[in-house]
Parts: sequence; structure tokens; C-alpha cells
Amino acid sequence: MEKNLVLIGMMGCGKTTIGTALAEVLGRELVDTDAVIEKREGCSISEIFAIKGEGHFRDLEQRASEELSQTEGMVIACGGGLPLRPDCIGPLKQTGIVIWLCRDPGETYDGLDVTGRPLAQQGKEAFVERFAQRAPVYRRWADIIIEDFSSPEATLHAVLEALK
Ligand code: S3P
Repeated sequence: MEKNLVLIGMMGCGKTTIGTALAEVLGRELVDTDAVIEKREGCSISEIFAIKGEGHFRDLEQRASEELSQTEGMVIACGGGLPLRPDCIGPLKQTGIVIWLCRDPGETYDGLDVTGRPLAQQGKEAFVERFAQRAPVYRRWADIIIEDFSSPEATLHAVLEALK
């Protein structure tokens, strides 16, 4: 069985960018948990947060996680808060290798498009604080921690090396 590669980390840290490149190099399919949820619900992440709240969104993440943990050989880009609930990240961890893209939060925020990201609306300081709160959680679940963000190529290289 070929394990899934599960990318975790803050909003805007590069999960989709690196995930896309990784999937291409390895000839795998990329799936994004936010996209799975938006498709199923027929509305955007912002609408789900605004209408039903964060708790409901996390329940939807749990369902997506359980379904994706039944697959194999995929690259899975997780929403930034998915690892916060053990019942969300747990199933993915069981059938995958969890890779934390641990990028400096200030640098991440400076390049972040906050549009459509309800939890990135409170400014840089709050974003950095949120990172500080989440870092131990990301660390706890990670099999691999990536810290080279000098260029997308360098990050991809670091992931591939770590997987060897
Ligand atoms: C969230 C990250 C978002 C999305 C939602 C909540 C978070 O995904 O799941 O807005 O709690 O960090 P990205 O990490 O892809 O932006």
C-alpha cells in the first residue's frame, strides 16, 4: 500500500503550491480538503463559517478526513486548522505520512491572500499568535518537518529528500 502524503501547516504556508509540485513529480493526485468540502456543500469556506460556524466546518473536515483516509497514494493538502482536532487528523495520520510545512508565520502572513480565509482577518499579530498556539499541535502530528522556504524549488527538494 502506498501511503498518502499529508501536508499540514498554517494558511498560506504553501501546502497547495508544494502539494501541486509534489504530486506532479511523483505522478500522484493532489486533493485539497477545503476543495472537497466546498464541492460537497456547494458553497465557499467563508459562507460555511459565516452561516454554520467554525464547529460545523470542523465536523465537515472530520468527514473529509475519514473519507480520504480510505484512499492511498495521494497528496493531501489539509486546511490549516484540520490538525487541531485529533479526530480530524488521526485518520489521515494512520494511512499517511504527515509533513508539516513549518514556515515563519510573519513571512507567511506577508505573502498571504486573506480573501476567503475567515481566520486570517485579524491582522499579522493575531496570525503570528495563532501560529504559536498551533505549532505544538503541528509538531505533535508531524512525521517530517520542513523548514527551508528559500524558494518553492528548495522546499520541494527538502520534502523529496526527507521522503527518501
Ligand atoms: C483554516 C485554514 C483554511 C480553511 C479555513 C480554516 C484554518 O485552509 O480550512 O479557512 O483554521 O487555518 P488553508 O490553510 O488552505 O488556507
